[in-house]
Amino acid sequence: MKHFITTQEWDKTELDAILDSATRLKADPIQHHLLKGKSIALLFFNPSLRTRTSFELGADQLGAHAVVLEPGKGAWGISFEDGAIMDGSEEEHVKEAAGVLSRYCDLIAIRAFPRFVNWAEDRQDTVIRQFARYSSVPVINMETITHPCQELAHILALKEHVGGDLVGKRYLLTWTWHPKPLNTAVANSAAMIATRFGMNVTLLCPNEQYHLDDRYLDAAKSNADETGGSFDITYDIEQAYDGAEIVYTKSWGALPYFGRWEDEAPMRQHLQHFIVDQPKMNRTDNAVFSHCLPVRRNVKVTDDVLDSPRCIALDEAENRLHVQKALMAHLLNASA
Ligand code: CP
Repeated sequence: MKHFITTQEWDKTELDAILDSATRLKADPIQHHLLKGKSIALLFFNPSLRTRTSFELGADQLGAHAVVLEPGKGAWGISFEDGAIMDGSEEEHVKEAAGVLSRYCDLIAIRAFPRFVNWAEDRQDTVIRQFARYSSVPVINMETITHPCQELAHILALKEHVGGDLVGKRYLLTWTWHPKPLNTAVANSAAMIATRFGMNVTLLCPNEQYHLDDRYLDAAKSNADETGGSFDITYDIEQAYDGAEIVYTKSWGALPYFGRWEDEAPMRQHLQHFIVDQPKMNRTDNAVFSHCLPVRRNVKVTDDVLDSPRCIALDEAENRLHVQKALMAHLLNASA
């Protein structure tokens, strides 16, 4: 039994097969009752628009049933610690929650963001790893400290708009400003998947404090070595945008300040110039632009970039539906 927790744990051939299947499902969206009679539990510990909608509709289009649960809000709170003395607010343990849902459902999907207090703890990805440990059905990551479903949707959108196998494309992953310190998940994911597909990847961030966790930087370097692509980090905005063919942006909190964000705030307030705007895009090689969404307009990205024909963020969001259908079918050996 295989879980979908990070794309690094999957062979490239399998990822390619899911993307090919997603393309077929996209061309014929509601004719495939590949998962008739199956069911998926969608556990949201955090809010969502795209992920919830695309998984629910995707399951329905495949003939499956989706059950949405919000632990601690309409469903019992869950304890994840082994050997826990459960005298706090949680009413059940992941052993029972994963065990019971495995009896009812064929798949379990989890959204569990970091708690943003202690990165050493959050980087263990405890919620989804414990679900995977105690589940007897495949577990899907709907965003924890990585966002692998977004990776698949992103790559499919790039294949559609940039074309070809993406090898050698000049890919810019740029930090952008946001008033709050956000999750590194999408940036971790973008660094891994862009290098996995052989692109020449530049990570632009304000300074060393905004480097991603070494686990993901090392994965990106290792992927680049294997594919013949490259992975570099720069703090120079103009150099980073010059000649880029793909621009992807995300904001995230500086990891050295994790859990003491008030100390990051003075540094962050001077970084608003990282906003993605048209003058920066004009330095690129007519790059396509994307963002995972949700996006704060004129804070992270200007209106003219988001409203440009080179913005493919809505296509990427649409592709969440198609790639997740393909993924669910693949995990249950029912591929289109
Ligand atoms: N990109 C993404 O996962 O969107 P939601 O947070 O709305 O699900």
